[in-house]
Amino acid sequence: MTKNQLLQYFEELDDLDEGTLSPPKRMTRKRESKKIEADAQLFVRAQELSREFKFTYKAARFEEAWLLGSLVEIAEHQWISDVLRKVKAGKEASVYLCRSGSAVEAPLVAAKIYRPRTLRNLRNDHQYRSGRADLDAGGNIIHNDGDLHAMRKRTNYGEELRHQSWIAYEFQTLELLHAGGADVPKPYAMEKNAILMEYIGDLDFAAPTLNSVSLDKDEVRPLFERVIRNIDLLLSNDRIHGDLSAYNILYWDGDITLIDFPQVVPPAANPAAWNIFLRDVTRVCQYFGSQGVKANPRKLASELWTSHGHKIIREADPRYLDAEDKKDRRLWEQQGSAK
Ligand SMILES: Nc1ncnc2c1ncn2[C@@H]1O[C@H](COP(=O)(O)OP(=O)(O)OP(=O)(O)O)[C@@H](O)[C@H]1O
Ligand SMILES: [Mg+2]
Repeated sequence: MTKNQLLQYFEELDDLDEGTLSPPKRMTRKRESKKIEADAQLFVRAQELSREFKFTYKAARFEEAWLLGSLVEIAEHQWISDVLRKVKAGKEASVYLCRSGSAVEAPLVAAKIYRPRTLRNLRNDHQYRSGRADLDAGGNIIHNDGDLHAMRKRTNYGEELRHQSWIAYEFQTLELLHAGGADVPKPYAMEKNAILMEYIGDLDFAAPTLNSVSLDKDEVRPLFERVIRNIDLLLSNDRIHGDLSAYNILYWDGDITLIDFPQVVPPAANPAAWNIFLRDVTRVCQYFGSQGVKANPRKLASELWTSHGHKIIREADPRYLDAEDKKDRRLWEQQGSAK
């Protein structure tokens, strides 16, 4: 497998995901040769492994290459023994149901595998990155000047570090919150672009997200309070979810589980923190409002926020607004007209 062939695989995988089978693009982008070589080696190992590691899930050709490349180490460490099916393809990652290997007690686990495309198309991450140090693959803060420079200059290598940091934040936050007693999946391992965690659901069905569930009358209030307790716990751990809504809360057997943490924000260090927090609380109140809970999101958010000693900074710093985001644009217009 040559470097160019490998890149072509990834290009085609992206095209396939978008449902547009356009002809392969020419490789004009410069890539870090070291990284490509490492990927190529991993790909070769994945091909070798595919002979012994035959999983039940029948992936398309390129998806299989990506899947194997992402799960090689995880399989070698006996975290998983089989991939059973794809649970869901999200915007940034796909989640697969796997049968555990001997290193995990639970019979089933979920593997969240970040798409390679994210390397060049990170979710508008500027507002989330503010005030949070970048993490390396081991979850340690990056201090190395060369690495910091590469990230600032947004070289391919730098972008890759940022991508890795994004994933490391998700894993580290799961570890932190799980240890702190929050309702989040238990994290098992992080390797390269994959996170292995507790699977919520059973062999036939993965837990639905809350937005697709109509709750029984008598469970609405307790579950609402449970979500608020989790938001409070996040604040105690110096975290705001940053993308919380009924779409990122799973419902199973009468319990809720919060998921999807790569964009977590530190409440004290990010200038847009209050707005991000208020948005999280508002979205949660919107869903529970549709289920009959009456709550005042602004009041609730400010009580939680100030109880942790944070100040409410109403005005958003324009540097952290996203021109593509309708809500951010509205906020900006409101601020402009208030002056
Ligand atoms: N631990 C889990 N157990 C069962 N299902 C899960 C688990 N984690 C994620 N999922 C499923 O996978 C979907 C995508 O996961 P997640 O939200 O973490 O990724 P994402 O790429 O950010 O997705 P999206 O763009 O849809 O928000 C979830 O909506 C949920 O249906
Ligand atoms: Mg999600």
